[in-house]
Amino acid sequence: MLEGEQGPAVMKSMELLTALGDVFGAECLVEVASVHISGVSYRNLGDAGTEWLEELARLEAIVDSSIRATLNPAGMDMVDWRRMGVTEKFAVGQRRIIDAFKTMGVETTCTCTPYLIGHTPNLGSQIAWAESNAVCYSNSVLGARTNRESGPTSLASAITGLTPLYGYRLDENRLPGTVVEVEAELRCPMDFSAVGYHIGKILGTTIPYFKGLGKPDIESMKTLGAACATSGGIALWHAEDVTPEASYAADHLNGLETLVVNEKDLKEVKNSFTAIHDEATYCLGCPHCSLNEIQEIATSVKGGDLKRKLWVFTSRGVYAEAERRGFINMIEKANGNVFRDTCMVVAPLKDMGWKSVVTNSFKGAHYSLAHGFPTKTLPFDHLLREAQR
Ligand code: F3S
Repeated sequence: MLEGEQGPAVMKSMELLTALGDVFGAECLVEVASVHISGVSYRNLGDAGTEWLEELARLEAIVDSSIRATLNPAGMDMVDWRRMGVTEKFAVGQRRIIDAFKTMGVETTCTCTPYLIGHTPNLGSQIAWAESNAVCYSNSVLGARTNRESGPTSLASAITGLTPLYGYRLDENRLPGTVVEVEAELRCPMDFSAVGYHIGKILGTTIPYFKGLGKPDIESMKTLGAACATSGGIALWHAEDVTPEASYAADHLNGLETLVVNEKDLKEVKNSFTAIHDEATYCLGCPHCSLNEIQEIATSVKGGDLKRKLWVFTSRGVYAEAERRGFINMIEKANGNVFRDTCMVVAPLKDMGWKSVVTNSFKGAHYSLAHGFPTKTLPFDHLLREAQR
Protein backbone atom coordinates (compact mmCIF):
# COMPACT_ATOMS: atom_id res chain seq x y z
CA MET A 1 0.00 0.00 0.00
CA LEU A 2 2.79 2.40 0.95
CA GLU A 3 4.52 1.82 -2.36
CA GLY A 4 1.45 2.87 -4.29
CA GLU A 5 0.56 -0.54 -5.68
CA GLN A 6 -3.09 0.02 -4.77
CA GLY A 7 -3.21 3.55 -6.12
CA PRO A 8 -2.41 7.03 -4.81
CA ALA A 9 -5.43 7.38 -2.50
CA VAL A 10 -4.55 4.21 -0.61
CA MET A 11 -0.89 5.28 -0.49
CA LYS A 12 -1.72 8.72 0.97
CA SER A 13 -4.08 7.16 3.52
CA MET A 14 -1.45 4.61 4.52
CA GLU A 15 1.19 7.31 4.91
CA LEU A 16 -1.10 9.12 7.35
CA LEU A 17 -1.89 6.01 9.40
CA THR A 18 1.73 4.80 9.62
CA ALA A 19 2.90 8.28 10.64
CA LEU A 20 0.23 8.29 13.37
CA GLY A 21 1.31 4.81 14.47
CA ASP A 22 4.94 5.94 14.66
CA VAL A 23 4.02 8.95 16.81
CA PHE A 24 2.11 6.76 19.29
CA GLY A 25 4.53 3.82 19.22
CA ALA A 26 2.07 1.34 17.68
CA GLU A 27 3.58 -2.09 17.07
CA CYS A 28 1.39 -2.85 14.10
CA LEU A 29 -1.78 -2.04 12.20
CA VAL A 30 -5.03 -3.92 12.80
CA GLU A 31 -8.13 -4.36 10.69
CA VAL A 32 -11.17 -2.27 11.52
CA ALA A 33 -14.74 -3.50 11.25
CA SER A 34 -16.47 -0.15 11.21
CA VAL A 35 -15.76 3.55 10.61
CA HIS A 36 -17.57 6.77 11.45
CA ILE A 37 -16.25 9.90 9.75
CA SER A 38 -16.43 13.50 11.01
CA GLY A 39 -15.48 16.77 9.32
CA VAL A 40 -18.51 17.13 7.06
CA SER A 41 -19.87 20.66 7.47
CA TYR A 42 -18.95 23.16 4.77
CA ARG A 43 -18.77 25.69 7.59
CA ASN A 44 -15.74 23.90 9.04
CA LEU A 45 -14.18 22.53 5.85
CA GLY A 46 -14.50 25.60 3.62
CA ASP A 47 -13.30 25.46 0.01
CA ALA A 48 -9.85 24.05 0.86
CA GLY A 49 -11.29 21.05 2.73
CA THR A 50 -13.91 20.50 0.05
CA GLU A 51 -11.25 20.40 -2.68
CA TRP A 52 -9.16 17.96 -0.63
CA LEU A 53 -12.13 15.55 -0.43
CA GLU A 54 -12.87 15.96 -4.12
CA GLU A 55 -9.23 15.24 -4.93
CA LEU A 56 -9.39 12.01 -2.89
CA ALA A 57 -12.56 11.00 -4.75
CA ARG A 58 -10.84 11.77 -8.09
CA LEU A 59 -7.95 9.55 -7.02
CA GLU A 60 -10.53 6.77 -6.70
CA ALA A 61 -10.42 6.50 -2.92
CA ILE A 62 -13.03 3.91 -2.10
CA VAL A 63 -14.27 2.50 1.20
CA ASP A 64 -12.98 -1.02 1.86
CA SER A 65 -15.81 -3.39 0.95
CA SER A 66 -15.69 -5.21 4.29
CA ILE A 67 -16.37 -2.04 6.28
CA ARG A 68 -19.45 -0.06 7.18
CA ALA A 69 -18.60 3.66 7.01
CA THR A 70 -21.12 6.30 8.14
CA LEU A 71 -20.95 10.09 8.17
CA ASN A 72 -21.33 12.83 10.80
CA PRO A 73 -23.76 15.79 10.47
CA ALA A 74 -23.44 18.27 7.64
CA GLY A 75 -23.97 22.03 7.90
CA MET A 76 -27.57 21.85 6.68
CA ASP A 77 -30.61 19.65 6.15
CA MET A 78 -29.78 18.23 2.73
CA VAL A 79 -33.44 18.38 1.68
CA ASP A 80 -34.94 21.28 3.58
CA TRP A 81 -31.99 23.68 3.75
CA ARG A 82 -33.88 26.71 2.43
CA ARG A 83 -36.29 26.60 5.39
CA MET A 84 -33.26 26.76 7.70
CA GLY A 85 -32.15 30.04 6.14
CA VAL A 86 -28.93 28.62 4.66
CA THR A 87 -27.55 30.53 1.66
CA GLU A 88 -27.36 29.14 -1.87
CA LYS A 89 -23.55 29.45 -1.81
CA PHE A 90 -23.32 27.38 1.38
CA ALA A 91 -25.69 24.76 -0.04
CA VAL A 92 -23.56 24.38 -3.17
CA GLY A 93 -20.41 23.84 -1.06
CA GLN A 94 -22.18 21.38 1.24
CA ARG A 95 -23.51 19.34 -1.68
CA ARG A 96 -20.01 19.05 -3.16
CA ILE A 97 -18.78 17.57 0.14
CA ILE A 98 -21.60 15.04 0.39
CA ASP A 99 -21.13 14.08 -3.27
CA ALA A 100 -17.40 13.46 -2.69
CA PHE A 101 -18.14 11.17 0.27
CA LYS A 102 -20.83 9.38 -1.74
CA THR A 103 -18.39 8.79 -4.60
CA MET A 104 -16.00 7.20 -2.11
CA GLY A 105 -18.70 4.79 -0.95
CA VAL A 106 -19.40 6.36 2.45
CA GLU A 107 -23.01 6.04 3.68
CA THR A 108 -24.13 9.67 3.84
CA THR A 109 -26.09 9.19 7.04
CA CYS A 110 -25.19 12.68 8.32
CA THR A 111 -25.70 11.90 11.99
CA CYS A 112 -23.59 11.94 15.14
CA THR A 113 -25.64 9.04 16.56
CA PRO A 114 -24.90 6.22 14.10
CA TYR A 115 -25.60 3.85 17.01
CA LEU A 116 -29.29 4.90 16.91
CA ILE A 117 -29.69 3.88 13.27
CA GLY A 118 -28.30 0.39 13.48
CA HIS A 119 -24.57 1.06 13.18
CA THR A 120 -23.63 -0.84 16.33
CA PRO A 121 -20.25 -2.60 16.17
CA ASN A 122 -19.72 -5.71 18.29
CA LEU A 123 -18.23 -5.85 21.76
CA GLY A 124 -14.42 -5.95 21.50
CA SER A 125 -14.29 -5.11 17.79
CA GLN A 126 -11.67 -2.66 16.51
CA ILE A 127 -13.31 0.36 14.88
CA ALA A 128 -12.20 3.84 13.79
CA TRP A 129 -14.78 6.38 14.86
CA ALA A 130 -14.50 10.15 14.92
CA GLU A 131 -17.01 12.49 16.67
CA SER A 132 -16.46 12.56 20.40
CA ASN A 133 -19.97 11.56 21.56
CA ALA A 134 -20.00 8.61 19.15
CA VAL A 135 -16.52 7.60 20.32
CA CYS A 136 -17.63 7.71 23.96
CA TYR A 137 -20.80 5.73 23.26
CA SER A 138 -19.12 3.03 21.16
CA ASN A 139 -16.24 2.54 23.59
CA SER A 140 -18.34 2.65 26.75
CA VAL A 141 -21.83 1.37 25.97
CA LEU A 142 -21.08 -0.95 23.04
CA GLY A 143 -17.62 -2.00 24.26
CA ALA A 144 -16.07 -1.61 20.80
CA ARG A 145 -12.55 -0.14 20.64
CA THR A 146 -11.62 3.17 19.11
CA ASN A 147 -9.35 6.12 19.72
CA ARG A 148 -10.70 9.63 19.23
CA GLU A 149 -10.14 9.64 15.50
CA SER A 150 -10.17 12.78 13.36
CA GLY A 151 -11.94 13.24 10.02
CA PRO A 152 -8.78 12.46 7.98
CA THR A 153 -7.70 9.42 10.07
CA SER A 154 -11.16 7.87 10.10
CA LEU A 155 -11.42 8.32 6.33
CA ALA A 156 -7.94 6.82 5.89
CA SER A 157 -9.09 3.78 7.90
CA ALA A 158 -12.21 3.48 5.74
CA ILE A 159 -10.03 3.45 2.61
CA THR A 160 -7.35 1.05 3.86
CA GLY A 161 -9.41 -1.02 6.31
CA LEU A 162 -6.64 -0.52 8.89
CA THR A 163 -5.69 1.48 11.97
CA PRO A 164 -2.57 1.63 14.17
CA LEU A 165 -2.82 -0.46 17.34
CA TYR A 166 -2.40 1.89 20.32
CA GLY A 167 -4.41 3.75 22.96
CA TYR A 168 -7.95 2.57 23.75
CA ARG A 169 -7.47 -0.42 21.44
CA LEU A 170 -5.34 -2.15 24.10
CA ASP A 171 -6.68 -3.81 27.27
CA GLU A 172 -4.24 -1.99 29.55
CA ASN A 173 -5.40 1.44 28.33
CA ARG A 174 -9.07 0.74 29.03
CA LEU A 175 -8.73 0.58 32.80
CA PRO A 176 -10.32 3.23 35.02
CA GLY A 177 -8.18 5.96 36.61
CA THR A 178 -10.75 7.40 39.07
CA VAL A 179 -13.87 6.18 40.84
CA VAL A 180 -16.75 8.64 40.49
CA GLU A 181 -19.35 8.26 43.20
CA VAL A 182 -22.57 9.97 42.12
CA GLU A 183 -24.51 11.01 45.23
CA ALA A 184 -26.75 13.48 43.44
CA GLU A 185 -30.17 12.27 42.36
CA LEU A 186 -30.29 12.01 38.56
CA ARG A 187 -33.83 12.88 37.52
CA CYS A 188 -33.56 13.36 33.76
CA PRO A 189 -31.05 13.07 30.89
CA MET A 190 -29.89 16.66 31.47
CA ASP A 191 -28.69 15.64 34.93
CA PHE A 192 -26.51 12.99 33.28
CA SER A 193 -25.23 15.66 30.89
CA ALA A 194 -24.39 17.85 33.91
CA VAL A 195 -22.51 14.98 35.60
CA GLY A 196 -20.52 14.43 32.39
CA TYR A 197 -19.72 18.11 31.99
CA HIS A 198 -18.63 18.41 35.62
CA ILE A 199 -16.35 15.36 35.72
CA GLY A 200 -14.87 16.02 32.27
CA LYS A 201 -13.57 19.36 33.53
CA ILE A 202 -11.89 17.70 36.52
CA LEU A 203 -10.66 14.45 34.97
CA GLY A 204 -9.48 15.60 31.55
CA THR A 205 -8.85 12.30 29.76
CA THR A 206 -8.83 9.98 32.80
CA ILE A 207 -11.26 7.05 32.47
CA PRO A 208 -13.99 7.23 35.16
CA TYR A 209 -15.61 4.25 36.87
CA PHE A 210 -19.08 5.42 37.93
CA LYS A 211 -20.94 4.20 40.96
CA GLY A 212 -24.50 5.38 41.58
CA LEU A 213 -25.59 6.03 37.99
CA GLY A 214 -28.59 3.73 38.43
CA LYS A 215 -29.99 2.25 35.21
CA PRO A 216 -29.59 5.02 32.65
CA ASP A 217 -31.54 4.87 29.40
CA ILE A 218 -29.91 5.33 25.98
CA GLU A 219 -30.73 9.04 25.93
CA SER A 220 -28.99 9.59 29.26
CA MET A 221 -25.90 7.64 28.21
CA LYS A 222 -25.56 9.48 24.92
CA THR A 223 -25.72 12.88 26.58
CA LEU A 224 -23.42 11.90 29.46
CA GLY A 225 -20.70 10.85 27.01
CA ALA A 226 -21.16 13.90 24.81
CA ALA A 227 -20.68 16.21 27.79
CA CYS A 228 -17.63 14.54 29.35
CA ALA A 229 -15.96 14.34 25.94
CA THR A 230 -16.52 18.09 25.53
CA SER A 231 -15.44 19.60 28.84
CA GLY A 232 -12.59 17.07 29.06
CA GLY A 233 -11.33 14.58 26.54
CA ILE A 234 -12.98 11.46 27.92
CA ALA A 235 -13.31 8.69 25.34
CA LEU A 236 -14.40 5.82 27.59
CA TRP A 237 -16.33 5.46 30.84
CA HIS A 238 -17.36 2.46 32.86
CA ALA A 239 -20.40 2.27 35.15
CA GLU A 240 -21.17 -0.39 37.74
CA ASP A 241 -23.87 -2.79 36.48
CA VAL A 242 -24.33 -0.72 33.32
CA THR A 243 -21.47 -0.96 30.82
CA PRO A 244 -20.14 -4.21 29.32
CA GLU A 245 -16.57 -3.93 30.62
CA ALA A 246 -17.53 -2.74 34.11
CA SER A 247 -16.87 -6.03 35.90
CA TYR A 248 -13.38 -6.29 34.36
CA ALA A 249 -12.76 -2.64 35.27
CA ALA A 250 -14.00 -3.29 38.83
CA ASP A 251 -11.07 -5.64 39.42
CA HIS A 252 -8.73 -2.68 39.04
CA LEU A 253 -10.16 -0.11 41.44
CA ASN A 254 -7.71 -0.65 44.30
CA GLY A 255 -5.77 2.48 45.15
CA LEU A 256 -7.80 4.78 42.88
CA GLU A 257 -8.98 8.17 44.13
CA THR A 258 -12.70 8.78 44.51
CA LEU A 259 -14.44 11.85 43.17
CA VAL A 260 -17.86 12.53 44.72
CA VAL A 261 -20.51 14.32 42.65
CA ASN A 262 -23.28 15.87 44.74
CA GLU A 263 -26.30 18.13 44.17
CA LYS A 264 -24.20 21.25 44.70
CA ASP A 265 -21.83 20.26 41.87
CA LEU A 266 -24.72 19.80 39.46
CA LYS A 267 -26.26 23.10 40.50
CA GLU A 268 -23.00 24.90 39.77
CA VAL A 269 -22.81 23.38 36.28
CA LYS A 270 -26.39 24.36 35.56
CA ASN A 271 -25.77 27.90 36.80
CA SER A 272 -22.91 28.35 34.36
CA PHE A 273 -25.31 28.80 31.40
CA THR A 274 -28.06 31.25 32.27
CA ALA A 275 -27.85 34.00 29.64
CA ILE A 276 -30.74 34.40 27.24
CA HIS A 277 -31.91 36.85 24.60
CA ASP A 278 -35.59 37.52 23.78
CA GLU A 279 -35.15 35.97 20.35
CA ALA A 280 -33.56 32.72 21.54
CA THR A 281 -33.95 29.49 19.61
CA TYR A 282 -34.98 26.50 21.73
CA CYS A 283 -32.96 23.47 20.61
CA LEU A 284 -33.25 19.76 21.22
CA GLY A 285 -31.11 17.10 19.60
CA CYS A 286 -27.49 17.36 20.71
CA PRO A 287 -26.57 14.52 20.25
CA HIS A 288 -29.22 13.86 17.59
CA CYS A 289 -32.66 12.96 18.97
CA SER A 290 -33.75 9.35 19.30
CA LEU A 291 -37.20 8.24 18.14
CA ASN A 292 -38.34 8.24 21.79
CA GLU A 293 -37.30 11.86 22.19
CA ILE A 294 -39.11 12.91 19.00
CA GLN A 295 -42.21 11.12 20.24
CA GLU A 296 -42.00 12.93 23.60
CA ILE A 297 -41.64 16.29 21.85
CA ALA A 298 -44.59 15.55 19.57
CA THR A 299 -46.75 14.51 22.52
CA SER A 300 -45.80 17.61 24.46
CA VAL A 301 -46.53 20.17 21.72
CA LYS A 302 -49.45 18.37 20.04
CA GLY A 303 -52.36 20.68 19.33
CA GLY A 304 -50.47 23.68 20.68
CA ASP A 305 -49.02 26.82 19.16
CA LEU A 306 -45.36 27.34 20.06
CA LYS A 307 -44.66 30.92 21.10
CA ARG A 308 -40.91 30.58 20.63
CA LYS A 309 -38.71 29.08 17.92
CA LEU A 310 -38.27 25.35 18.55
CA TRP A 311 -35.68 23.52 16.45
CA VAL A 312 -35.24 19.78 16.78
CA PHE A 313 -32.30 17.92 15.21
CA THR A 314 -32.16 14.27 14.30
CA SER A 315 -30.84 11.80 11.77
CA ARG A 316 -32.63 11.16 8.48
CA GLY A 317 -33.13 7.55 9.62
CA VAL A 318 -35.01 8.54 12.79
CA TYR A 319 -36.80 11.34 10.91
CA ALA A 320 -38.20 8.88 8.36
CA GLU A 321 -39.66 6.67 11.09
CA ALA A 322 -40.95 9.67 13.06
CA GLU A 323 -42.61 10.97 9.90
CA ARG A 324 -44.24 7.59 9.28
CA ARG A 325 -45.68 7.64 12.79
CA GLY A 326 -47.00 11.19 12.42
CA PHE A 327 -44.66 12.81 15.00
CA ILE A 328 -43.07 15.26 12.54
CA ASN A 329 -46.47 16.47 11.46
CA MET A 330 -47.55 16.99 15.07
CA ILE A 331 -44.45 19.11 15.82
CA GLU A 332 -44.72 21.15 12.64
CA LYS A 333 -48.44 21.79 13.13
CA ALA A 334 -47.53 23.38 16.46
CA ASN A 335 -45.00 25.60 14.60
CA GLY A 336 -41.93 23.62 15.60
CA ASN A 337 -39.18 22.63 13.18
CA VAL A 338 -37.51 19.25 12.80
CA PHE A 339 -34.35 19.11 10.71
CA ARG A 340 -32.26 16.17 9.53
CA ASP A 341 -28.57 15.84 8.73
CA THR A 342 -27.33 18.84 10.72
CA CYS A 343 -27.16 20.31 14.22
CA MET A 344 -27.07 23.41 16.40
CA VAL A 345 -23.26 23.49 16.31
CA VAL A 346 -22.19 22.69 12.76
CA ALA A 347 -24.82 24.78 10.90
CA PRO A 348 -23.87 28.40 10.01
CA LEU A 349 -26.08 29.84 12.76
CA LYS A 350 -24.74 33.41 12.70
CA ASP A 351 -25.45 33.71 8.97
CA MET A 352 -28.90 32.27 9.65
CA GLY A 353 -29.62 35.13 12.05
CA TRP A 354 -29.58 33.23 15.35
CA LYS A 355 -29.27 35.44 18.43
CA SER A 356 -29.26 33.11 21.42
CA VAL A 357 -29.69 29.44 22.33
CA VAL A 358 -31.61 27.43 24.94
CA THR A 359 -30.72 23.74 25.09
CA ASN A 360 -30.84 20.68 27.33
CA SER A 361 -27.31 19.64 26.30
CA PHE A 362 -24.14 20.82 28.00
CA LYS A 363 -22.17 19.92 24.88
CA GLY A 364 -24.49 22.09 22.81
CA ALA A 365 -24.34 24.87 25.43
CA HIS A 366 -20.54 24.74 25.55
CA TYR A 367 -20.15 25.27 21.80
CA SER A 368 -22.99 27.72 21.55
CA LEU A 369 -21.32 29.95 24.14
CA ALA A 370 -17.94 29.49 22.44
CA HIS A 371 -19.54 30.72 19.21
CA GLY A 372 -20.64 33.89 20.97
CA PHE A 373 -24.35 33.17 21.61
CA PRO A 374 -25.91 33.95 24.99
CA THR A 375 -26.86 30.45 26.16
CA LYS A 376 -29.15 28.89 28.73
CA THR A 377 -29.71 25.25 29.70
CA LEU A 378 -33.08 23.79 30.69
CA PRO A 379 -34.23 20.19 31.17
CA PHE A 380 -36.12 18.65 28.24
CA ASP A 381 -39.66 19.04 29.71
CA HIS A 382 -39.00 22.48 31.11
CA LEU A 383 -37.56 23.66 27.78
CA LEU A 384 -40.66 22.47 25.93
CA ARG A 385 -42.97 24.13 28.46
CA GLU A 386 -41.11 27.43 28.20
CA ALA A 387 -41.17 27.29 24.38
CA GLN A 388 -44.95 27.08 24.55
CA ARG A 389 -45.39 30.07 26.86
FE1 F3S B 1 -24.00 15.87 17.52
FE2 F3S B 1 -23.77 18.34 16.76
FE3 F3S B 1 -24.12 17.78 19.31
S1 F3S B 1 -22.57 16.67 16.02
S2 F3S B 1 -23.20 15.78 19.59
S3 F3S B 1 -25.57 17.40 17.67
S4 F3S B 1 -22.69 19.24 18.48
